[in-house]
Amino acid sequence: MIDGYNKLYGDWEKRWKNSQEKEQLSLLGRRMFKSKIKSMAEIISDIPVQTVIEVGCGLGYTLDFYCRRGFDCIGIDIAENAVACCKNKGLPVIREDLENIDEKYDLVSSDGMLEHFMDFQPYARHLMRISRNYVLLIQPNHDSFVGKTLVYLSELIKGDKNVFEYNFRINDFITVFSRNGFDVVKNIPVFQDVFRILLFQKRR
Ligand SMILES: C[S@@+](CC[C@H](N)C(=O)[O-])C[C@H]1O[C@@H](n2cnc3c(N)ncnc32)[C@H](O)[C@@H]1O
Repeated sequence: MIDGYNKLYGDWEKRWKNSQEKEQLSLLGRRMFKSKIKSMAEIISDIPVQTVIEVGCGLGYTLDFYCRRGFDCIGIDIAENAVACCKNKGLPVIREDLENIDEKYDLVSSDGMLEHFMDFQPYARHLMRISRNYVLLIQPNHDSFVGKTLVYLSELIKGDKNVFEYNFRINDFITVFSRNGFDVVKNIPVFQDVFRILLFQKRR
């Protein structure tokens, strides 16, 4: 485990505690998710992919999207509570740390994980290491007015129920991936630009 992240992992367990019984997306959450999967469906239909790993699959919303589209997919998460919730939903999931994955996948996907690390670069490199061709990230866009406002409101309302997120810019991700041989091939705004879907392809 990369040093100093025990507390963060504890925060995720706490965040997902009891999720199996009562976690539900809010109305806003449902709308955001709907527009996210609409854009993802368009992106995915354009690329040749069979195997998908969803890293940090949480409660399995994004993993469920990949499974329904018929990909050979697996979700991993470090948090036992998240894994139990995905299993309850019948999703293919294992409790594992990204660092310990050795197999390679056509598409490595991660939705809302990197922004929680003070230094996301080691994790970004692991995502690229296990990718045969593509990495897809879904990241909050801290340059968007609506995005910034929603993060601020959510912090005010939910306080430390939220797992802290750093305000990296979309360009930070693009720069780190590019330095490591992955070029951004799609950069799609979602839901008033609150999120960006970034698709990276390995440079040949
Ligand atoms: C914001 S959540 C993802 C939510 C998810 N996209 C969904 O659709 O429900 C981020 C997840 O990343 C997981 N995570 C953090 N570090 C990880 C690591 N090194 N390996 C695997 N999962 C990790 C956390 O436990 C957490 O569940």
